[in-house]
Amino acid sequence: MAKMWAGRFKKEVNSKVNDFNSSISFDKAMYKVDILGSIAHATMLGKQEIISKEEADLIVSGLNDILSDLDSGELEFDLNAEDIHMFIEEELTKRLGVTGKRLHTARSRNDQVALDIRMYLREEIDEIIDLVKQLCNTICNIAQENMYTVMPGYTHLQRAQPITFAHHIMAYAQMFVRDIDRLKDCYKRTNKMPLGSGALASTTYNIDRQLVCDLLGFDEVTQNSLDGVSDRDFCMELANDIAILMVHLSRFSEEIIMWCSWEFKFIELDDAYSTGSSIMPQKKNPDIAELVRGKSARAISNLNNLLCMMKGLPLAYNKDMQEDKEAIFDSVNTIKMCLENFIPMLETMTILKDNMKNASAKGFINATDCADYLVKKGLAFRDAYKITGQLVSYCIDNDKTLETLTLNEYKQYSEVFEEDVFDSIALITCVMERNVVGGPSPKQVKSQIENVKKTIE
Ligand code: ARG
Repeated sequence: MAKMWAGRFKKEVNSKVNDFNSSISFDKAMYKVDILGSIAHATMLGKQEIISKEEADLIVSGLNDILSDLDSGELEFDLNAEDIHMFIEEELTKRLGVTGKRLHTARSRNDQVALDIRMYLREEIDEIIDLVKQLCNTICNIAQENMYTVMPGYTHLQRAQPITFAHHIMAYAQMFVRDIDRLKDCYKRTNKMPLGSGALASTTYNIDRQLVCDLLGFDEVTQNSLDGVSDRDFCMELANDIAILMVHLSRFSEEIIMWCSWEFKFIELDDAYSTGSSIMPQKKNPDIAELVRGKSARAISNLNNLLCMMKGLPLAYNKDMQEDKEAIFDSVNTIKMCLENFIPMLETMTILKDNMKNASAKGFINATDCADYLVKKGLAFRDAYKITGQLVSYCIDNDKTLETLTLNEYKQYSEVFEEDVFDSIALITCVMERNVVGGPSPKQVKSQIENVKKTIE
């Protein structure tokens, strides 16, 4: 088929250039929003009498027909078309003749594509937010069941102080709540209506941008036509928000991978969310968590890709910007796929509470509490810290723990120790006593859970 813009050219475009130039293989994903945008544009053209009311109606119903034919599969995408916008306009013209040719009045593909990406991504942002909310909800449910599940908390991956499993995973809920906040913020800047910017300098027709804005459910129209066609901040922002979200998921995945190793055995993944080995019959691998960790690389790269693609572009539209779609679509598809698998993997995993408890009994994670015991009896913290260090060293030499020392042994290091030391260093006491806002005591974790649930309601 001859190019729409063939009039100006004396030769056909080289066929390799055609393929190189074409974006329909990936922008066909936007067919629905492209048609909805065109319907609003045609409605506005009719209302403003830029085209006749009758022709506007014909265009609207023609576009609706194309939409349902594409939905049903009756109409197939022509992969020889230059992009989704050209394909739909050409199809409309095939069906309506000259009337179809009026659709593109007062519009350019530059403002059209800017509109389409915004419409496409705002829906995706909503879907991603919904999934992250589900994830938060799943974490809260697991936390609710594990407010008394004592486990070692780590720094430097060394056992440090006692916490609960609920407290540990609620840390991730906090990250995901921030992710939701970032996504909502990004939605605000995405939901601006650029149509009417034209190719770069708006249009001479008496268009009604506010009408199109209202018809398509945007918050407001963009304020500068050059910026309207060349702004891809919302793509970079979304790619950034997804990259951070993927980094959070990747950290969580890393812990899950460790926790289900024989070295930890804090959890067991459900068979439906694990895979086996082709050679080692005993293996059960956490592939989902590993893939989520691995796929975070793409999300980070897509952000980098978009930033690099934009960084030297003069105003206004440049064809470079066609590269935005594959990057941001990949980020969007990746995060959704990851969340759809990660959430049920969490929901179905078994928490091996006893193993967490046993791990807590080793590693002297109550040493700080032993020092604090002495402080509460009047010693200065540095002196208490030194005495406890000596006790730990004694335990290591004699294969003991702070719990299994006798009071006599304690007293050799400080006369201040009494029978109540054993209660003070009991792991559950250590957790219960950390009762400040943000701490691991069940009371504090309960209010964390309530706050997260309130935020995601
Ligand atoms: N396929 C193009 C893109 O995605 C649409 C805009 C083309 N505009 C142009 N003047 N060639 O960016």
